[in-house]
Amino acid sequence: MSTEKYAVYKTKGMPFRRLGPTGLRVPLFSLGGWLTIGGSVVGDPVKEIVKTAFENGINMIDTAEVYSAGKSEEEIGRVIKELGLRRTDLIISTKIFWGIRGGRESSPNDTGLSRKHIIEGTQECLARLQMDYVDIIFAHRPDPTVPMEEIVRTFNYVIEKGWAFYWGTSEWSGREIEEAHHVATKLGLIGPVAEQCEHNMFHRERPEAEYAPLYEKYGLGTTVWSALASGLLTGKYNDGIPQGSRFAIEPTLKATVQSLQKPEGQEKIRKVRELSKLAKEEFNTTPTTLALAWVAKNPSTSTVILGASNPKQILDNLEALKVLPKLTPEIMEKIEKILANTPKQAVAFGRPKLNKLAKL
Ligand SMILES: NC(=O)c1ccc[n+]([C@@H]2O[C@H](COP(=O)([O-])OP(=O)(O)OC[C@H]3O[C@@H](n4cnc5c(N)ncnc54)[C@H](OP(=O)(O)O)[C@@H]3O)[C@@H](O)[C@H]2O)c1
Repeated sequence: MSTEKYAVYKTKGMPFRRLGPTGLRVPLFSLGGWLTIGGSVVGDPVKEIVKTAFENGINMIDTAEVYSAGKSEEEIGRVIKELGLRRTDLIISTKIFWGIRGGRESSPNDTGLSRKHIIEGTQECLARLQMDYVDIIFAHRPDPTVPMEEIVRTFNYVIEKGWAFYWGTSEWSGREIEEAHHVATKLGLIGPVAEQCEHNMFHRERPEAEYAPLYEKYGLGTTVWSALASGLLTGKYNDGIPQGSRFAIEPTLKATVQSLQKPEGQEKIRKVRELSKLAKEEFNTTPTTLALAWVAKNPSTSTVILGASNPKQILDNLEALKVLPKLTPEIMEKIEKILANTPKQAVAFGRPKLNKLAKL
């Protein structure tokens, strides 16, 4: 088929990292569809968001079967076709667990990680996306009711079938990821290569401490979500809840919104103010770009998934690429002082740390 009808992808300076231990190169910033694509944003505005992302080097899009009850995948599939994007240029990830009804009023087998739901769910995702395959498929949550062997075998089956190239986990505990690797190794199968986890300046324990041994042992990568804590780290909630913002319109975030009135929430806003001051004084930039660059700087981060309700947010957020090289150890130290939430790493009882080649 002629490639002339395709929009040509250009990296536009976007750095690429390997997805964990794999050969797949993913852009440092990607685009996600939770709450926005197919939800608060539908129709032509979705096209504008995807187009702006693509034209600025973002060629990876993340979605899930549950996002807006399947509409996120449908919208993404539609605009990729309409924009004439070449499949080879794109990295598409989706996630299986909740089914399209989000576990509510579901029948017993249209959610979870049974062989039945992983296979049926994957086929339905592909139909909504109008694609033959996704690049990465994630288990959107762990399912302790299904034997790990069934889960690992089924994701390997999905890969063998060519419906996905890699599989990963999302919000699994370190123990669960370790168990998946144990089973995969025992059976000579492929283990999860990446974890899609929340990681931001206010949420650090799991990605920075609990997963630390997995980065070293398995080269696990992360595809980070809510790097801006749903927008809190932009500073837009410092003086209340702006009309039309995520905290104003999303009912599932009610508890988060209420917590902003409590001492813990007020403390976060105080820190955002301090981060804003630092961003302005050091780089004449925003807390948004500082927060995004800070997550991107972490070597375990394969990609930071940007959420955006309009094209301008994407352009603003990509300014983080300019801040990233300026995050010197001194600046990181200043940020650490403001955050005052450094996760404790496992103790080595005085034993010196070994490097990856097990040499001192
Ligand atoms: N695996 C999982 O369990 C999981 C969970 C959540 C998300 N995810 C994935 O991760 C992606 C990103 O997560 P997220 O959407 O929570 O990321 P986020 O970056 O923390 O929040 C994105 C939201 O913040 C606001 N925002 C972004 N840039 C802004 C800017 N420059 N100025 C002002 N406001 C701005 C926008 O909301 P408003 O404009 O509407 O206020 C935007 O929709 C999702 O789309 C999804 O693909 C995965």
